[in-house]
Amino acid sequence: MITKIDHIAIAVQNLESALETFQNVIGCAPEAIRIEEVASEKVRVAFITVGETKIELLEPLSDESPIAKFIAKNGDGMHHIALQTDDINKETERLESLNIKPLSLPKEGAGGKKIMFLHPKETNKVLIEFAQKKH
Ligand code: CO
Repeated sequence: MITKIDHIAIAVQNLESALETFQNVIGCAPEAIRIEEVASEKVRVAFITVGETKIELLEPLSDESPIAKFIAKNGDGMHHIALQTDDINKETERLESLNIKPLSLPKEGAGGKKIMFLHPKETNKVLIEFAQKKH
């Protein structure tokens, strides 16, 4: 089951500068911000908690990062929307039964969550992530 929008992600070339901008826009306290590196995706990530959901800023750590490739093509901007699920394996099966194919099997993402993506061509050119909380 999908339980909420977990986060909305924005690709940025410079995390510090983007963080300052979004911190000002949202007017949040520094405690609302958490930064981590996700080695598997070669990115540095800042999560800004906004009520029940988060804004995720993604900065590439290498030219090989999918985020570097995205920025090279599009510049900074909206990258994906993440839906929270309570069972990512069940969700993957449900989607496959509807002939909507995930880009990969569920894998470990930021915050130790299990994540999986759908190709934007399946979803009106919006990259959709499914994320299941660590139990
Ligand atoms: Co994400």
